[in-house]
Amino acid sequence: MSKIKIGVLGAGTMGAGIAQVAAQSGHRVALVDVNQEALTKAKNSLQKVIERLIEKGKWTEDFGNDVFGRINFSTQMSDFKGSGMIIEAIVENIEIKHAVFSQLESLVDENCILASNTSSLSIAAIGSVLKNPNRVIGIHFFNPAPLMPLVEIIPAVQTCETVLIEARSIIDSWNKVTVLAKDTPGFIVNRVARPFYGEALRIYEEGIADFATIDWAMTALGGFRMGPFTLMDYIGNDINYTVTESVFKAFYYDSRYKPSFTQKRHSEAGYLGRKSGRGYFDYSENAITPEPTKDEVLGKEILNRILVMLINEAADALFLNVATKEDIDLAMTKGVNYPKGLLKWADEIGIKNVLEQLETLFEEYGEDRYRPSPLLKRMVREEKSFF
Ligand code: NAI
Repeated sequence: MSKIKIGVLGAGTMGAGIAQVAAQSGHRVALVDVNQEALTKAKNSLQKVIERLIEKGKWTEDFGNDVFGRINFSTQMSDFKGSGMIIEAIVENIEIKHAVFSQLESLVDENCILASNTSSLSIAAIGSVLKNPNRVIGIHFFNPAPLMPLVEIIPAVQTCETVLIEARSIIDSWNKVTVLAKDTPGFIVNRVARPFYGEALRIYEEGIADFATIDWAMTALGGFRMGPFTLMDYIGNDINYTVTESVFKAFYYDSRYKPSFTQKRHSEAGYLGRKSGRGYFDYSENAITPEPTKDEVLGKEILNRILVMLINEAADALFLNVATKEDIDLAMTKGVNYPKGLLKWADEIGIKNVLEQLETLFEEYGEDRYRPSPLLKRMVREEKSFF
């Protein structure tokens, strides 16, 4: 049986990567963008990626040519005709997404799945403009899409079961690790990961440690692949700040997700990170790399504070049925390369220990931000572990 045709709308960072993943899994792909330049860029960079994979011996030349040949780069949405599923990856703006979803529906068959790769908008809101909203679904890839194994699958309240099953099985067949997430702000990863940035920034603002020391604690002592400040510089302070702000607003200003002035000021100053040559660290040619203070006691204090906040967020996501415990742990290890699932980590530290540390913070600061999840309290009372 031949594979369904896949449509990808938006040939930017995410769309180009998603098109590559679909094509290398044997699908014909229509990659559509309003901007010819974006298409040319996507085409050239895909060509380079394929050349490199062939050089390294990972792909044969024939396979590379097949993958490239399966993608139709186009500025015309009418080229989506005959698609079984379309994944939208255009700018993060609800009005523009509404306009394209209405247009898409008028172009494709009635059983074509209409998916969005949105990071921060609600899938229910995106689907609300459709005549048949049962076919809308969130399919959230991570950057870079060809390399990151995780994909969050987010059914909206309108999504029907067959669309969910079909969409998930297509993405599973692309060798991705899929997790099921509720249509809530940040889904799993962008919600649970907030304290990695937020608490690190808070520790810095309190003057407990500098950027380099906090990064050292998280990598050398915590085993995280990248420290929070290096990671924020990599993501871009403008982008990371915007995500934090949108999650904060979407949670009705819950102080747990409060953005940081330090990040806002860095972003305003144009200290965006690697892409601007300077963020929390300096990336210019002769820059001196700042040395961390390698104090184990201080380092452990930093690691523990960020880690218990992450665990609290993961526990609360489970408490509110955002996802299963297995999917929450998978999401953080496969989507953002955490060294361990947070709930498994909590079991290792001991739930009682985690709760005590959170209660100490809550008492000391009196801020709602540090309130422990009711699930942790219940688990301690019932002497339970996550796994
Ligand atoms: P991008 O800015 O790199 O690419 C967006 C592309 O969409 C541009 O090429 C633009 O020309 C095109 N576009 C804009 N309006 C259009 C329209 N009406 N019709 C057709 N094409 C149009 O953006 P990026 O980073 O790829 O993000 C796209 C989506 O993916 C957003 O919803 C974002 O939230 C989400 N996302 C982004 C991630 C990231 O790390 N960049 C990760 C996961 C999701």
